[in-house]
Amino acid sequence: MQLAPMDEAEAARVLGEAKARFLDDVVASGELARAAAEERTAALLAGILPEGVATPGHHFRRLRADGADVGSLWFAERLCETPPHVYVYDILVHPGCRGRGHGGAALQALEVEARSLGASQILLSVFAHNAGAIRLYERLGYEPCERGGAGMRMRKAL
Ligand SMILES: CC(C)(COP(=O)(O)OP(=O)(O)OC[C@H]1O[C@@H](n2cnc3c(N)ncnc32)[C@H](O)[C@@H]1OP(=O)(O)O)[C@@H](O)C(=O)NCCC(=O)NCCS
Repeated sequence: MQLAPMDEAEAARVLGEAKARFLDDVVASGELARAAAEERTAALLAGILPEGVATPGHHFRRLRADGADVGSLWFAERLCETPPHVYVYDILVHPGCRGRGHGGAALQALEVEARSLGASQILLSVFAHNAGAIRLYERLGYEPCERGGAGMRMRKAL
């Protein structure tokens, strides 16, 4: 598994898709109606990515396995925080490629990169209704560290 770089146009497309999935998840969780979810997501993203996909410290990568693109990963370095960590904003394995270990392999590749950056943890958030993803994270050693609203934050110490 390689976490290959992508250009800005591709990153913008990946971001747009991640935003759409996040919106659907917020609505599916019952937390907010669509109009309110759209407003909140736009405000959240403006805060997280003030310079769009070129915001320093944010990485958009292609998941490459056996010479093919199988998905994408968006993560941020938060190395000045205590403890220094990497935060996974989005991971996607294309629907036809799921259930073959790519998601797990991508997160393990991220562990190697996060360690080399100097991070001591990986954090991510997941909706409570995303049982498949939660099982995957638990299998990889992630533990819940904060619960609230429609989901929880999980952490893996490196
Ligand atoms: C979550 C996701 C990245 C896992 O990728 P993957 O390549 O299928 O993961 P792996 O093959 O390494 O692990 C498969 C695990 O994911 C779970 N999974 C979730 N959705 C799945 C799907 N549609 N097909 C197959 N497995 C799925 C399986 O339950 C499996 O866990 P198990 O082996 O304990 O049953 C992928 O399902 C996905 O892109 N989902 C949509 C986006 C998403 O929910 N991202 C996470 C946001 S927090």
